[in-house]
Amino acid sequence: MHEAIDMPAWVGIAYLVAGVCFILALRGLSSPATARRGNRLGIFGMGVAVATTLLTHDVASLPEILIAIAIGGGIGLFTAKKIAMTDMPQLVAGFHSLVGLAAVLVAAAAYLNPVAFGIAEVVRTGIAYTMPDGTTYAGGMVQTFIPPASRIEMGLGVAIGAITFSGSIIAFLKLAGKMSGKPIMLPGRHVINLSLLAAIVGLVGYFTIDQSAWVFWTITALSFVIGFLLIVPIGGADMPVVVSMLNSYSGWAAAAMGFTLGNTAMIITGALVGSSGAILSYIMCRAMNRSFISVIAGGFGGDAAAGSAAAATDRPWKRGSAEDAAFLMQQAEQVIIVPGYGMAVAQAQHALREMGDLLKKEGVRVKYAIHPVAGRMPGHMNVLLAEANVPYDDVFELEDINGEFAQTDVAFVIGANDVTNPAAKTDKTSPIYGMPVLDVEKAKTVLFVKRSMGGVGYAGVDNSVFYMDNTMMLLADAKKMVDDIVKAMAH
Ligand code: TAP
Repeated sequence: MHEAIDMPAWVGIAYLVAGVCFILALRGLSSPATARRGNRLGIFGMGVAVATTLLTHDVASLPEILIAIAIGGGIGLFTAKKIAMTDMPQLVAGFHSLVGLAAVLVAAAAYLNPVAFGIAEVVRTGIAYTMPDGTTYAGGMVQTFIPPASRIEMGLGVAIGAITFSGSIIAFLKLAGKMSGKPIMLPGRHVINLSLLAAIVGLVGYFTIDQSAWVFWTITALSFVIGFLLIVPIGGADMPVVVSMLNSYSGWAAAAMGFTLGNTAMIITGALVGSSGAILSYIMCRAMNRSFISVIAGGFGGDAAAGSAAAATDRPWKRGSAEDAAFLMQQAEQVIIVPGYGMAVAQAQHALREMGDLLKKEGVRVKYAIHPVAGRMPGHMNVLLAEANVPYDDVFELEDINGEFAQTDVAFVIGANDVTNPAAKTDKTSPIYGMPVLDVEKAKTVLFVKRSMGGVGYAGVDNSVFYMDNTMMLLADAKKMVDDIVKAMAH
């Protein structure tokens, strides 16, 4: 029987407190101003949930668990401290694979030893048997009978967990550049995937009438395979959506296992992760103007762009210096700064804030325009600007600021490319066609900071803004260029 039903009142209250903390944490994380508090609440809630679970279960060996927590926590702390902000997406994908694996291992442990997990009824047959907890049944062999409802939870948990595991590994390899980011298209993949999916669903159903080992392990194996097949055809440009989709899957896997284990905290946490991941995937699809189905179907972000990038570099363009940029911005009434991935790579956010402060002192209105998929992870730019203490009131989302470029003197694009590319609005053959972009080309002058004319952005496409009459290219590392502009302004 599930212990959730007969747990002491304080346990229910503790799990409720943990659940409320998680909800408040998510709420806090929705704005940079409250994100730190949100994080702390999340940590506290998780602490309460883990402590309650340890106190209410017959733990075989507390020292072993504490050693495992210390090792896992140590690895997590070390990785989080060491990782560069720009490598965050692959770290997140890597961590999701562990959540998936954990769900598979818990489901397997519960399947192999259901009595110890308190989910199986005992059916006695011929020979004597000693239960794992030491109870001896004289003259009777024990066979376990897992109730059909638990089998469904187990089957779903192991299936979603395995899909999350292998899918996240592929996402990690693609994001880390250890595997080509291009979509790998297998012939007949839709038929193969749909058949595999149907087989998994069918087997989970069959598992309710036959708890044989082959059913459980076939579900597990097929799910590992389909996780791999589902993600391999998805191109790099859609990876952010995939990562948050896998995040959502890992939540549902945890929730399913929460039912199996009768652990309310796990059900709440899983459902929160599952639904917030799904909402985030939806928001990102909207930001890139892609339908969810077309992302899952894969094939996006191929090589159509490579040729146009190379062909375009011989068009005329203008180069400017840090002094030119300083002069133009000091004369402006309003400057909109558009940060992107290159700002993150160069860690130029602090210098950028300094530049913004100097401009403000001279009476220039300074605003920051954030595209929802600028950088390499959701909220990437917001985090970096917050780290550099850029006031939140100066930071605007795409839809709130896009109308202002036409009345702006200078658009200062720093390390952003795809998110400013007008081809997204006009060129049906462009891989980013349909993605809403920042209308920087409408500003009186565009200052474009990047290292070279040849370097393309994530989607691998050239940007016509480089070659406009009102654009001045500032070719240098973003931090170096902003430092030089700051020096030029001080003179
Ligand atoms: P990108 O289009 O990737 O452009 C980055 C630009 O930064 C390039 O033009 C590059 O040119 C320049 N750059 C790189 N290092 C630099 C440095 N040290 N100093 C100065 N410039 C540097 O960036 P974006 O506009 O932010 O667009 C984001 C893209 O990533 C979108 O296509 C989006 O779909 C995708 N994506 C987003 C996410 C999320 S959730 N945010 C996750 C994964 C992928 P040079 O090489 O010439 O310097």
